[in-house]
Amino acid sequence: MRRPLARALARPLALAATAAVIPFACAAPAASDSIIVGGFPVDVADSPWTVALSSRDRFGGTRSGQFCGGVAVGPTTVLTAAHCLREDVLGSPPDEVPDLRVVTGRTDLRTDRGQEIAVRRSWVNPEYDDVTNAGDFAVLSLAEPLPQDSVIGAAAAGDPAYAEGTAAMVYGWGDVTGGGDYATSLRAARVHVLADSRCERAYPGGGGGGVYLADSMLCAGEVLGGRDACQGDSGGPLVAEGRLIGLVSWGSGCGRPGSPGVYARVSDILTKLGWGTGGVEGAQAAP
Ligand code: ARG
Repeated sequence: MRRPLARALARPLALAATAAVIPFACAAPAASDSIIVGGFPVDVADSPWTVALSSRDRFGGTRSGQFCGGVAVGPTTVLTAAHCLREDVLGSPPDEVPDLRVVTGRTDLRTDRGQEIAVRRSWVNPEYDDVTNAGDFAVLSLAEPLPQDSVIGAAAAGDPAYAEGTAAMVYGWGDVTGGGDYATSLRAARVHVLADSRCERAYPGGGGGGVYLADSMLCAGEVLGGRDACQGDSGGPLVAEGRLIGLVSWGSGCGRPGSPGVYARVSDILTKLGWGTGGVEGAQAAP
């Protein structure tokens, strides 16, 4: 089954007409002119834990089959967004995708640099709620270990990296314009952790819009907008003070003032997975 990326995304995007805020439906005209809105090009060697999720079978080969981001938290353990593995994204349950892989060490997706590693097992948070987007995380177990040193530590609850105002970086190969123009080379954007109250105000729920739930979500961006993640960045890392604090999850448009990016809160993920403090050691025994 071959579905080009644009078509594969067309369905979730089409939903944008009825629901203003859903994953992959950052389809409202974006005030963006670069991926990872307001970002700049980076080399994956400088953030080696940033990986691409890939299936050429489902998304075509021009960009190494990339359709989401991910982040390595253990030698054979990658975190990504639950919504990336939804059946309406993949066209089937993830374990029926014949070539689901993680791409590591490849800044430019048009090249064959780095490595592609098969996903041995995928575990989607059973509590993921596709209406509120709460619990938007999944764990991939890889068939072979990633190259050494391509793992990032996760910030546990209470880590100062979660404090409002902390400078953070988000990484991805996502949409350049908000209109389906996907990047070929990795980019990053500088954002700040924002107060929960900002996202609560932006996303109160109701009217089909998303609702910000501070326990399981993290709010980041810039007060005036301009810098953000966008479609195709989902599942990728938000990093502060050298530690992983968020996974790209959702937002209304990309980089719009008053509509910050919403991330899955990594401390909550650690708790839910029983990984404890900083806990990537237990990752092997993950669900
Ligand atoms: N849901 C998008 C994806 O699947 C990510 C959206 C992030 N949007 C934002 N404004 N930060 O790739």
